Amino acid sequence: VSPMLVDSFGRHIHYLRVSVTDRCDLRCNYCMPKDFKGFEEPANWLSHEEMVRLVGLFVQLGVRKVRLTGGEPLLRRGVTDLAAGIAAMKLVQDLSVSTNGTTLARHAAALKAAGVTRLNVSLDTLDRQRFAKVCGRDCLPKVLDGLQEARRVGLMPIKLNCVVTPDMQEAELARMLAYSLASGFILRLIETMPMGSTGQQFVPVDLSQRGERIAERFGLVPALDFGDGGPARYWSAGEDRPALGVITPMSRHFCATCNRVRLTVDGTLHLCLGQEDQVPLGRMLRDGASDADLMAAIRAGIAAKPERHEFGTAPTKVVRFMSQTGG
Ligand code: GTP
Ligand code: 5AD
Ligand code: SF4
Repeated sequence: VSPMLVDSFGRHIHYLRVSVTDRCDLRCNYCMPKDFKGFEEPANWLSHEEMVRLVGLFVQLGVRKVRLTGGEPLLRRGVTDLAAGIAAMKLVQDLSVSTNGTTLARHAAALKAAGVTRLNVSLDTLDRQRFAKVCGRDCLPKVLDGLQEARRVGLMPIKLNCVVTPDMQEAELARMLAYSLASGFILRLIETMPMGSTGQQFVPVDLSQRGERIAERFGLVPALDFGDGGPARYWSAGEDRPALGVITPMSRHFCATCNRVRLTVDGTLHLCLGQEDQVPLGRMLRDGASDADLMAAIRAGIAAKPERHEFGTAPTKVVRFMSQTGG
C-alpha cells in the first residue's frame, strides 16, 4: 500500500469509487427517489477522457483499487472503453464494477475483455414478485441470466449484495445463501443506510446477529479478514474463500479502517459516504486547473476526510441519494 494519501486519522486511502452515471433502470426503494427522471446528459458530466485523467491523478497519488459504480454503471455509454482506459494504468491492481445486473448478460464478455477483474451484483431476493416490488421492475430473470453469463466468462469472484429489510424472513435469506453457495458466489447481507429522502422509514436490522445465526445453520465458520480492508465481515465453508458476509454500517460501523473516497459523474470528490464534505474537482478541471493543482486539491480534501458517518446517531445530514455515489 502506498503511503501517499493519508488522512488526519492515519488512514491510507488507496481505493477510489467512481460513479459513471446517476441513472438507473431500476428504482430500488432504499436507493433512488421514486420520481427520479433524467433523460439528457447534463453538460457538467465528465467525458471518459476527463474521468481517465482524474483517475490517473489519484493513481499517481497512491490509489491501487478502482470500482465503477452508478446509478447503474452499465447504462453509461461506452463504459467498457472507460474500463479499458483505467485497466491500462499499470498501477491499478483491482478494477471492479458494482452493478444491478439487468444488462450483465450483454456486457459481461466485454467487461472481462476490458480488464475488469471482478463484480459485485445487487440481489435482494430470489422471489420474482418481491424483486419487482423492492426494485420497481420485474427484472429478476434478467439478473439471474446476467449472473450466469458473468460466471461463464470468468468474471469471478462475484459478490451478491443483498440489502436486508426488516420484513425479510429467515427462510428467504436461507434460500439466497443456498443459491449463492451452489453458484460459487459470495453473499453479503447489508444494513440499509438512510440516505436522501427516499420516503422510506428504515427500521434498523442488526445483521451481526442474523448473519451469525444463518452462518451457523449452514455450518459456516468465521473467516479470517479478507485482507482488502473492505466493509464486510465474512464466514466461509472451510476453504479459503468467504461464502457469506455482513456489512453493518448501522450496528457496527467500520470507519476506523476506511480506505476509500468517491467521485461522482460530474467529478465531485466525496470524502465520506455519510457526510457532505466534497471537493469540486470536475469544476476545477473544466476551469483549466493543472494536474498539480488538482493533485493539491485531492491531497487537501483527503487531509480533511471526516472521521466517520453519523447515520443513526444524528438526523441525516446527507441529502444526496445513494444512487449518486453507488454506495
Ligand atoms: P468489495 O471491495 O468487493 O468489498 O466491495 P465494496 O463492499 O467496497 O463495494 P460495494 O459497491 O459492493 O458496496 C457494498 C455495500 O457496502 C454497499 O451497501 C455500500 O453502500 C457499502 N459501502 C461500501 N463502502 C462503504 C463505506 O465506505 N462506508 C459505508 N458506510 N458503506 C460502504
Ligand atoms: N443502504 C445500504 N446499501 C445500499 N445500496 C444501495 N442503497 C443502499 C442503502 N440505502 C447497495 C446496493 C448496491 C450497493 C452498491 O449499494 O446493494 O449493490
Ligand atoms: Fe469511510 Fe465514511 Fe464509509 Fe465510514 S462512512 S467507512 S468513513 S466512507
